[in-house]
Amino acid sequence: MNDKQAVALEAASYVKNEMIVGLGTGSTANYFIEALAERQKTENLRVTTVASSNISMIKAQSVGLTVLSLAQLSQIDLYVDGADEITPDNTLLKGRGYDLVMEKLLAKAAKQFIVVADKSKLVDRIGTHYPIPIEVMPFAWQAAKRSIEAIGGVGDLRPNAAKDGLCITSHGSLVLDMRFDASLDAHALNALLNNVPGVVEHGIFTHLADTILIADQGKIETRV
Ligand code: A5P
Repeated sequence: MNDKQAVALEAASYVKNEMIVGLGTGSTANYFIEALAERQKTENLRVTTVASSNISMIKAQSVGLTVLSLAQLSQIDLYVDGADEITPDNTLLKGRGYDLVMEKLLAKAAKQFIVVADKSKLVDRIGTHYPIPIEVMPFAWQAAKRSIEAIGGVGDLRPNAAKDGLCITSHGSLVLDMRFDASLDAHALNALLNNVPGVVEHGIFTHLADTILIADQGKIETRV
């Protein structure tokens, strides 16, 4: 078992009967979906889920989990998802999977947002390893890019996987991957980006993670 599997298994132990559980997106979230399905099968756990992406919805259905639409819900019990970067004050960078809109909605709607990661995700500062993903309305991308450049952002539209076009999110947005100077801290950047017209969502998650499970060579550190 690798660290991502170990931390996903630990997160699955937090699920209780009758819970509505949000399913994240990415490889660690996939291990969680599998662990949850296993508990449903072996313990007859009664749970319903809501997915942060079409990919996770399909994965959940393929392992026999019941999936609801967020439109039917206003709150969920638990949201379990990975992250790209995690700082000492539990600020997250997410969004390499470009389902930011649903990920942040579920993180906010959850009574408990559990982040699952291995120790490679720990950083001192948001933006250490990756640019900030910023989802923008297609018709507004140039104006939004100029506003983001005006606050020091450097970057461009995210290409699609085949590199022969542009990444389009499941909500029809484009994604600007932008880097910023180290002097701009994540909380300040979060506030600035929330104020840029044309920005649909961005990958800085401040004050949203309730519990962070970090696996390091099989040992799980729990931050609350
Ligand atoms: C999805 O958009 C992302 O935020 C993922 O949660 C993040 O990239 C972590 O993915 P892994 O669990 O695959 O490392």
